[in-house]
Amino acid sequence: MPERNARRRRGRENENNSENEVTERHLQERPANSSLIISILITSIIFIAVCAYGHNNSPINAVEIENVVEVELEGPFAVNEKLSHGKRIAMRAPESCAEADDKKLYVGLRDGRVVCIHPSNDGEIGAGKVENITTGVIEGAVNTSDAWGHGVPLGIRLRGQSLYVMDAIYGFYVIDLPTKSLKILIEPDVVTPPMKFPNDFDISADEKTVYFTDSSEKYPITELMSEVLEGSCTSRLIKYDMLTQKLDVVKDGLCFGNGVQLIDDESMVIVPETTRYRVNWIDTKTWEIKHFLHLPAMPDNVR
Ligand SMILES: *[C@@H]1O[C@H](CO)[C@@H](O)[C@H](O)[C@H]1NC(C)=O
Ligand SMILES: *[C@@H]1O[C@H](CO)[C@@H](O)[C@H](O)[C@H]1NC(C)=O
Repeated sequence: MPERNARRRRGRENENNSENEVTERHLQERPANSSLIISILITSIIFIAVCAYGHNNSPINAVEIENVVEVELEGPFAVNEKLSHGKRIAMRAPESCAEADDKKLYVGLRDGRVVCIHPSNDGEIGAGKVENITTGVIEGAVNTSDAWGHGVPLGIRLRGQSLYVMDAIYGFYVIDLPTKSLKILIEPDVVTPPMKFPNDFDISADEKTVYFTDSSEKYPITELMSEVLEGSCTSRLIKYDMLTQKLDVVKDGLCFGNGVQLIDDESMVIVPETTRYRVNWIDTKTWEIKHFLHLPAMPDNVR
């Protein structure tokens, strides 16, 4: 009996002990909890202040992106490895490529140069020496930005011995390949408002008409991320008459209009809108969008 009582007492003592521990722990935790709350509060206030400052002072006016249709990577869009089997020629961001009858390839690079990749001696395309056609800088030319200190040739097309280039910094120019002399045809500031981001073009079969995109009225290529983050639609499709030098803005309000490709009968021109994951077929008489195709990723150039 006394043993059992003793055990009971001990048990009660233990209970009392643990109650005391709990109260003590409570007392200790209270200051810790309130400092946690204060730091959460301060962090939240700083976070809200930064967001408010960013919202009011950011140069980017992000717009709501509507009508984007999610497309699954299946059917014609299923992931494939077709491009993995080719030969890799290391160069910096070649955007566009024109192939000549003599197996030479002409490409524009991110450092501003237009280069010619010769075939190898035994005729393999892309396997020979790389020859500089331009330096990437056109001294004294009107430009959309000086941030990178050189041009950025994006669209490239070859007609005979004339290599036509749409450059995001300098506008549209033509290089006479035998002499490598360069002539500017469209400066970025000859349209209103001035072009900020000339991008790509196509030339009609009779070589009289050029259709080209200015991707943004706001940001040059050197601020590409701002254009993508903002998602606004200040891009234009412009028509240029090679004989009279007349320029017509035939379509505006495009959302990052990018590559340009006429279809065979020239009744429509294909223009992707990069920030809307979409490719448009635009009528070359009415300039209406005849149809479009939603894509699972951002389209860029088109050929
Ligand atoms: C082409 O230009 C680049 C950049 O200026 C230079 O580094 C390179 O040596 C040039 N290549 C040839 C073959 O002259
Ligand atoms: C762009 O134009 C400005 C003003 O004329 C000039 O100072 C600058 O060197 C040009 N930049 C390029 C990359 O041609």
